[in-house]
Amino acid sequence: MGLSLLALAACNNQAQKEEKSDQKTTIAMETGQDPHSYAKADALVKHLNWDASVDFDSKTITASAQWDIEVKEGAEAIYFDIYDLDIQKVTVDGVESDYQLGEFDHHLGQGLRIPVNANSKKVSISYRTGDDARALQWLDAEQTAGKENPFLFTQSQAILARSWVPTQDSPGVRFTYKAKVKVPSHMLALMSASNPQSRNEKGEYEFEMPQAIPSYLLALAVGDVYFEAISERTGVYAEANLLDTSAYEFADLEKMVQAAEELYGPYAWGRYDLIVLPPSFPFGGMENPRLTFATPTILAGDRSLVSLVAHELAHSWSGNLVTNATWDDFWLNEGFTVYFEHRIMEAVYGREYSEMLASLTRAGLQEAAADMLKEMPNDTKLKLDLEGRNPDDGVTSIPYDKGYFFLRLIEETVGRDRFDEFLKNYFQGHKFEVMTTEEFLDYLKANLLSDEEFQQIRVKEWIYEIGIPDNLPEVKSDRFAKVDAALENFMQNGALPAKEQSDAWTTHEWLHFINSIPADISIEQLSELDEAYQLSASGNSEISAAWFQPTIAAGYEAVYPKVESFLTSVGRRKFLTPTYKALLEAGKEQMAQDIYAKARPNYHAVSRETLDALLNFSE
Ligand code: BES
Ligand code: ZN
Repeated sequence: MGLSLLALAACNNQAQKEEKSDQKTTIAMETGQDPHSYAKADALVKHLNWDASVDFDSKTITASAQWDIEVKEGAEAIYFDIYDLDIQKVTVDGVESDYQLGEFDHHLGQGLRIPVNANSKKVSISYRTGDDARALQWLDAEQTAGKENPFLFTQSQAILARSWVPTQDSPGVRFTYKAKVKVPSHMLALMSASNPQSRNEKGEYEFEMPQAIPSYLLALAVGDVYFEAISERTGVYAEANLLDTSAYEFADLEKMVQAAEELYGPYAWGRYDLIVLPPSFPFGGMENPRLTFATPTILAGDRSLVSLVAHELAHSWSGNLVTNATWDDFWLNEGFTVYFEHRIMEAVYGREYSEMLASLTRAGLQEAAADMLKEMPNDTKLKLDLEGRNPDDGVTSIPYDKGYFFLRLIEETVGRDRFDEFLKNYFQGHKFEVMTTEEFLDYLKANLLSDEEFQQIRVKEWIYEIGIPDNLPEVKSDRFAKVDAALENFMQNGALPAKEQSDAWTTHEWLHFINSIPADISIEQLSELDEAYQLSASGNSEISAAWFQPTIAAGYEAVYPKVESFLTSVGRRKFLTPTYKALLEAGKEQMAQDIYAKARPNYHAVSRETLDALLNFSE
């Protein structure tokens, strides 16, 4: 019954869409230099004035996007990307203009063509967001921590900004912006820009982002959130009942910013704040400039999951300052960021700590690469080829962790001093620019590696070939070696790790312990571990998600209620995908389907897209 209703709704949607496109004939359109954007290099946006009103009742944003543009001699039109936007009116330099829409593509949306010439200066587009605005998640009050007010947040990366702003949605197109946003008077609005720290009665907020950013860093959050300062230039926004917990968790934020600046030069964006979002946020974190968006699942209570904050902070250099030119070069954003993240963690918490992180990263990479080599070997190359696909397909361990180890290999080959100087110059010398993989390799040859070093590292193999080269750097962690010995002792002799030992284990030691559990562990042994260490009851999201793997695989039923409550309360894709996969692989298809049917309405479109495919779900 539920399903057939959903199917009916989908049909109606389809009918409406067809009706819409009947009213406005669509024309064939080709993408530009970036295969995921219709923007063309001869007519580009420079600045946005966005005037918007957020309506929680109809779940729509009504807005006008007024763009300052620069058009080259000879160009006849400017192209924007849109996704399910209802365009009401277009003007060019104040005069109403005709426009054309391209055919609808499931990943890309539509091109919007507006005739202009080299003298055109301003294009203004009035519009409303659609029902299928995939960047937006509108949450009902029950889906928030306070349970009294609704919430809205955006997730624009990779190509979803076009579902809430008509924009040239390529990482290669940068612009500055100003915004005026009207929200219900008891709510606060925040953007990836200068932000208010308190409410105003009218619910009208103004924003400015004076540094040029690509569209994927456009962000908006509207909710019943409050601000608490951490240092002069850092702070956190969260719902009232999470505010103190959040400020406690992120107390080291200023130290992290200082460590980062010490490494690779000044923080370029003014303030660095975080917002803790409701648990349906599909990612761990998102590096929206000046305001990182974060999942509440990193509030472990003991600050043990703050490497995620170091990661998003690091993007203020790798990604936000020097930006991947297309999504095929995604490793330039994420690989550099994982490397930088580890360096920040090492600076603040010491090498022993950061080597535990690196060891977890290495094990995760090897496992992921082995799986991917079977099913999609080409996606194990650092340089991707995502043309015609959803760029989200490129979000795997490869750009992150293979990218990290490639950079670590360079560091180990040339020595840290040389590498640090190189990286600092790289970030400072290319700030507010885009970078292709090929430009980076040229820069690497010209400024760091001798021919001999270039060969020795096997740079081309790392970038352009599948799999993990066999000169993958080793990681040695003495603390993990002790965990290995304890696990071995348990598996061989049935002896639980000594209390004094396990009591001193940090989250990362537990993660290593759980991830190392062999496939042939028995239900009795799992139950013994669970009883001794209360793993099923852990309040640490990373530990829970890790623990679901061996327990679901072994059919340890005591964990099922926790699995269900986790999957129905958390929307973070990194946890959802492996957990649903584990259920499917363990033959628990029905359980997976039942939980998914319940949980799906609470997931963001990004998580739904991945899980619909995994669970063969269709509306
Ligand atoms: N920029 C990414 C998130 C992202 C990537 C969103 C691609 C959409 C498309 C963010 O910096 C990230 O990597 N988040 C990770 C955190 C991590 C590796 C510590 C996450 O969300 O798990
Ligand atoms: Zn990242």
